[in-house]
Amino acid sequence: MARVVTLNVGEKSVEMPVTEGTEGELGFDITKLRAETGYVTYDPALGNTGACKSAITFIDGDKGYLRHRGIPIEQLAEKSDFIEVAYLLIFGKLPTADERKKFSQRLGANAALDPAFKKVFESFPHDAAPMAALSAMINTASCFDSTVADGDDEQFAEAAARLISKTRTIGAYIYRMTNKLPYVEPDPKLPYVANFLRMMFSTPGTQYEVHKEVTDALDLIFLLHADHEQNCSTSTVRMVGSSKANLYASCAAGVCALWGPLHGGANVEVLEMLDVIHKGGMTAEQYLEQVKEKKVLLYGFGHRVYKNFDPRAKILKESSDKVLAKIGVKDPLLDIARKLEALALKDSYFVDRKLYPNVDFYSGIIMKAIGIPVNMFTVLFAIGRMPGWIAQWKEQRDENVRIARPRQIYTGPTKSDYLPVEKRK
Ligand code: CMC
Repeated sequence: MARVVTLNVGEKSVEMPVTEGTEGELGFDITKLRAETGYVTYDPALGNTGACKSAITFIDGDKGYLRHRGIPIEQLAEKSDFIEVAYLLIFGKLPTADERKKFSQRLGANAALDPAFKKVFESFPHDAAPMAALSAMINTASCFDSTVADGDDEQFAEAAARLISKTRTIGAYIYRMTNKLPYVEPDPKLPYVANFLRMMFSTPGTQYEVHKEVTDALDLIFLLHADHEQNCSTSTVRMVGSSKANLYASCAAGVCALWGPLHGGANVEVLEMLDVIHKGGMTAEQYLEQVKEKKVLLYGFGHRVYKNFDPRAKILKESSDKVLAKIGVKDPLLDIARKLEALALKDSYFVDRKLYPNVDFYSGIIMKAIGIPVNMFTVLFAIGRMPGWIAQWKEQRDENVRIARPRQIYTGPTKSDYLPVEKRK
């Protein structure tokens, strides 16, 4: 028999069907609540609201589990790569060799930027904020693709590849523009990450050598950022997509949400925090005192869902040691990060609040070591997150959900009359 939850509201009793997920999470369906009782739920920041059913990513925040389509992130980090994980997220299964080849070919074929598109881009000032440029250019991409609005599955697959591929080219070009360097054409023969690094860092007319340690490290960073269920930016993509806005427009909105320092922008804040501690001659202990006095945040710590280690942070912590050793970089900021982490993990302020390192705590150190400037960190997060946004947009589109339209509890003035200007005080 179907399970129900009974809610008594005043004289009324409402039965709400229970929805159970494959990992045992339970939710009761309140879609009839307002019609039957006149009440709505009040859940600011949506911490208790299941806004959708999704078969893409599973997180158990208490146990520190993250799985994509059932596969633990640790296995994907060890055995897979970013492009394969992108395919897994979007199409729901690991690709066969042929599917992988076709997907890679699609990415290669869609990497270059149209000259007219580049012209729009080049009208931006050199010091434009990279995330503003990224969002604007992803949105502009929909002006150059007439098929994207309501395409079939084949058109969607093409649009998804185009968006993943072009976001990387746009990201690299943002770096070139910021540094007043010319655009570097993508090389369709190169794999995704090597192509990105070449477009960022090569000098036209010279051979660009990229170390395997560097491509592997960046591939891992992209892979670890690829999806994270209903976070702020993904919920934004779904919200915008629910109005039937196209894939590009929805993902451009996701970039804007990701930009904020409490979300993807935290990777920039972490580096700036470590830099302030280092350059200011402050000790880790002194910084943590300021955190506890609520004057500053310990960026890269805490998470709405994880009340245990973020498994992505665990992987990156291990990898930061290896990457720095392999490429021969000794970074004092890594020592400060380790000290902050060790102190915080035994301090009651953080222990009681279940605050652990999140993905942003170590990613910046690795990106810095491989030569990525700090102002590009969140752009790289967005490149990594793109497959997740696309997968979530597609899942929602396939379910043909209703437009998202939350309610509110109105707290403004009750009915009052319009005052002519001469009577206003
Ligand atoms: N430093 C200091 N105090 C913190 C921190 C932090 N990083 N995070 C949470 N707290 C405090 C918070 O002030 C609250 O204190 P109190 O109980 O005294 O009011 C308590 O811990 C509980 O906070 P919460 O409910 O767990 O936090 P939240 O769910 O509202 O916010 C968060 C989650 C990620 C925005 C927050 O932890 C934060 O601001 N972290 C720093 C920014 C950051 O690293 N963001 C990246 C998140 S992971 C990647 C991503 O999403 O992009």
